[in-house]
Amino acid sequence: MSAKPISLQPFAPRVFSGVQPTGNLHLGNYLGAIKRFAELQHRHDCVYCIVDLHAITQAPEVWGGPEGLMRATREVAAAYIAAGIDTKKHIVFNQSQVAEHAELAWVFNCVARMGWANRMTQFKEKAGKDRENASVGLFAYPMLMAADILVYRATHVPVGEDQKQHLELTRDIAQKFNNDFGDRIRALGLASGEYFPLAEPLIAGPAPRVMSLRDGTKKMSKSDPSDYSRLNLTDDADAIVQKIRKAKTDPEPLPSEPEGLKGRPEAENLVTIYAALEGSDPAAVLRQFGGGQFSAFKSALADRAVASLAPIGAEMRRLTADPAAIDAVLAEGAARARAIAGPVMAEVREIIGFIRS
Ligand code: TYM
Repeated sequence: MSAKPISLQPFAPRVFSGVQPTGNLHLGNYLGAIKRFAELQHRHDCVYCIVDLHAITQAPEVWGGPEGLMRATREVAAAYIAAGIDTKKHIVFNQSQVAEHAELAWVFNCVARMGWANRMTQFKEKAGKDRENASVGLFAYPMLMAADILVYRATHVPVGEDQKQHLELTRDIAQKFNNDFGDRIRALGLASGEYFPLAEPLIAGPAPRVMSLRDGTKKMSKSDPSDYSRLNLTDDADAIVQKIRKAKTDPEPLPSEPEGLKGRPEAENLVTIYAALEGSDPAAVLRQFGGGQFSAFKSALADRAVASLAPIGAEMRRLTADPAAIDAVLAEGAARARAIAGPVMAEVREIIGFIRS
């Protein structure tokens, strides 16, 4: 261990977030997460992970088996880069290359209580009716997520709204660890205050919850069987135009004020998407399109979506054509990630009392 414990330094702001390599990266992942990752890099130190250990919590058919996992891992890396994340300045890597994530997750499995994990709605949704058949890993998913964040002692976590509950659990785990081992942490002189920060969720941005194009009450999701429910980042211009043309709407014209979107989930979703892509807000969009029919709005939305997404898709295709170059970025990112996670995990071992010769 280094002479000066790293934990004695005050928490420097550090951003951490992750995306699962399970295929079908979509507009929700982009607006809720990846686009914001790129924005935050100008103000903070960022660590962006491709969470392949999380991907395997579901059946291999879901993540595409070994070949599918490798393809999807490189595709998420390509999406990060295509969205503008600077991999020289910030850390981009895949989770399984840094063993400390899994090691700290085990510790957190022992810190978190069954009752806490039992309350996780995402487990209930993903496990569905056949809970007996869900993997143990799916149940332990949130503890691994807490480890991802805390092994870097990250302070800020940009995510979509669906991750809010997992981040609350992360804070509970950090707090319980700090309390359970408080005396030891102080006796070792490892931290003057809290060992792990209570990481803050950054669930902001104009579209923290992008909804399905087929049903405005359902979240846009990788696992929706209908490809028409989402705009994939790899969709070409024709596919984007088709999907927006077919998107569900209602028979009324667009309202002139955002209040008029209440009770009209599909209209609200399309207006929100337009505003998020444009970098404006729903009121401004409705000043322009309010009172008009959906057909005109949809064609403007399609143009807007093609202008934003098609270049990202094209860049992703260009990058994934050279897998070795992406793997090199991931290897370099993993080495830099290990340099942070290794010393933190060494301190955690000492705090708990694991002998290491
Ligand atoms: P994943 O891959 O399911 O989602 C990646 C990110 O996309 C956001 N997102 C959405 N945002 C808005 N509208 C939507 N329809 C939509 N769908 C998905 C998610 O909120 C997420 O930010 N558990 C995480 C991965 C993870 C992680 C972490 C995140 C693992 N460890 C540590 C932060 C910190 C997840 O759901 O990935």
